[in-house]
Amino acid sequence: MTKTTSQQILVTTALPYANGSLHLGYMLEAIQADIWVRFQKLIGNTCIYVCGDDAHGTPIMLKAEKMGITPEALVAKIHTEHKQDLEDFSIGIDNFHTTHSPENQALATEIYRRLYKKGDITKRTIHQAYDPIKNLFLPDRYVKGECPKCGAKDQYGDNCEVCGATYSPTDLKNPISVISGATPIQKESLHYFFCLDHYEQMLKNWTKAGHVQPEVAKKLSEWFEVGLQQWDISRDGPYFGFEIPDAPNKYFYVWLDAPIGYMASFKNLCDSNKNPSLKFDDYWKEDSQTELYHFIGKDIIYFHALFWPALLAGSQFRTPTNVFAHGFLMVNGQRMSKSRGTLITARTYLNHLKPDYLRYYFASKLGSGIDDIDFQLDDFVQRVNSDLVGKLVNIASRCAGFIHQHFEGKLSTQCIETELYQKFITAGDSIVNHFQHREFSRAVREIMSLADDANRYIDDQKPWNLIKSPETRQKAHESCSVGLNLFRVLMIYLKPIVPNLTQEVETFLNCELTWKNRLTPLLGHAIQPFKPLLQRIELSEVNAMIEDSKENLTETSPAVQTNQAGETSKTSTVGLVAKEPIRETITIEDFTKIDLRIAKIITAEHVEEAQKLLKLTVDIGGETRQIFAGIKEAYKPEDLIGKLTVVVANLAPRKMRFGISEGMVLAAGPGGRDLWILEPHQGAEPGMRVK
Ligand code: MSP
Ligand code: ZN
Repeated sequence: MTKTTSQQILVTTALPYANGSLHLGYMLEAIQADIWVRFQKLIGNTCIYVCGDDAHGTPIMLKAEKMGITPEALVAKIHTEHKQDLEDFSIGIDNFHTTHSPENQALATEIYRRLYKKGDITKRTIHQAYDPIKNLFLPDRYVKGECPKCGAKDQYGDNCEVCGATYSPTDLKNPISVISGATPIQKESLHYFFCLDHYEQMLKNWTKAGHVQPEVAKKLSEWFEVGLQQWDISRDGPYFGFEIPDAPNKYFYVWLDAPIGYMASFKNLCDSNKNPSLKFDDYWKEDSQTELYHFIGKDIIYFHALFWPALLAGSQFRTPTNVFAHGFLMVNGQRMSKSRGTLITARTYLNHLKPDYLRYYFASKLGSGIDDIDFQLDDFVQRVNSDLVGKLVNIASRCAGFIHQHFEGKLSTQCIETELYQKFITAGDSIVNHFQHREFSRAVREIMSLADDANRYIDDQKPWNLIKSPETRQKAHESCSVGLNLFRVLMIYLKPIVPNLTQEVETFLNCELTWKNRLTPLLGHAIQPFKPLLQRIELSEVNAMIEDSKENLTETSPAVQTNQAGETSKTSTVGLVAKEPIRETITIEDFTKIDLRIAKIITAEHVEEAQKLLKLTVDIGGETRQIFAGIKEAYKPEDLIGKLTVVVANLAPRKMRFGISEGMVLAAGPGGRDLWILEPHQGAEPGMRVK
């Protein structure tokens, strides 16, 4: 559904911390946003994408100190590096600014003043761990000790990685300061709090009005249930940040001015006059008619879906149109790890491979939800080679040669396959829809299925035969021209995903690829000689990248999915953040313990309130079992009845919120709607053991 009037859209991605290199996890976010932005532009909307570095906070201050430079020098250095990385990944950011900027200071101060005036700021004295050697209040993450619950050693001050308990640093046994090794003392200090609780109704309404994804709304309702707490927005000096007005030696906590950095980056863009029609107020005033979208990872939902809209509403600015959260990037099914070489920086990737490969691969895996995305190296090589090189570019390479050798590089003057061409055009409607809803994997699947059609068409036509006789020569010309015109439509659809390939194709086809001009095929049009547009990826290149990443084992490598702010708050979304998947091996004896049985599904029904579950009763050979299976998105209950499937029959019964589940149904697929229960071959009977 393309809207008829052009929209004005502002997009942001989270501001990366200015104390480490960008890694492919962040690139997942940047690529997701960039594809969406390019798509908006392709269909004719005005879409601005701003970002910048998140420069403040204790970790950055301490890191600069360690390096013997000022924090300003550190963030300036990282800023140049981040900007270059993003540019080299073809991320079309209109302005990459920094939170350590005059615009941000002015805006943060203004917002704070407005909130203060409204009575949304309150002060009280709190006790905090303090490093008596460094003379510094210690964020929770800078205190380590023994877990008060299970006694595990070397645990952070906010939660135990062994038993999962959460607590405050004062509860730790034998605590030490991570910075100096000193035993922290308790010291009191006056802190400033933002009364988030004043915004409970506003936030509930905002959530209900559909400004967040369903998964996020669910998380928010849990937070509402617990009750919204006042938010500590001040830190004592020394702190790298902005001083709070009329509060000497008190600084804004990094997370207060970080999102305001979105506004600051946009303000800086407006003031630069690069685009004189851009007006700050048009996009940020309370009743703005423009749209505002934040792309973020699921670990920072709390900040973007609670604090941020409340801060904006409280200071008479517009609130976000939507917050688009995504899952985490895994590599080969596991969290990125320095020692495995899977903590790949953007630069290391670029040293070995082209950005379009990764952009395409991520697109082929991205949906609108917050599931984690797995970067499987083998799958990556295979997917890119078979789709982009084997299917897509192949269409052009199969046709272009004939056009040049026999027809002076000109396409035929008529299009003979109007029906097939029309099919490609019509598919645009649903492809647009997928892009719009960030269902990129669906868009890719549809585009690649069209690429199959195009290849099949060339297979059927066999221009290599047609060219041989004078009677069918014309037909060869026409079918190759059809092939190239189909290729052109596919490239228009892929334009947001693979901008570099698109540029090469624009040169080759000698025309700009626009959404509109796909409607009319190129006829009698001169094209450029065909050069290989894209090379296959060699597994050796990927392996070299991994080796390089292992060599990068320096302290400057970014911490992944750890809390770089060094504060507790990011972990308040526990439950949304996936735990590291455990990849243990099992013995054959372990395996034979599993009783796999053929089961016949007798009944299947929806479970009210459960997003993913269906309640099944299955016959496993004279015995019926009740099983809750997470396949609701993939199957309608009525389609399951009578089907045979495979279940784990000796799984210990599990009590769930909706009843007891007495087994497990086996299914395969990436998840969500793309999940298939295992269906044994005919001849199988309920109760049979599966071998
Ligand atoms: N500085 C804050 C954001 C402030 S926004 C006003 C921050 N920075 S970060 O560098 O830790 O993360 C930046 C973004 O990258 C976040 O959206 C985070 O979720 C995302 N990712 C960090 N690691 C990631 C993966 N492994 N996978 C996907 N996204 C990841 O948080
Ligand atoms: Zn513990």
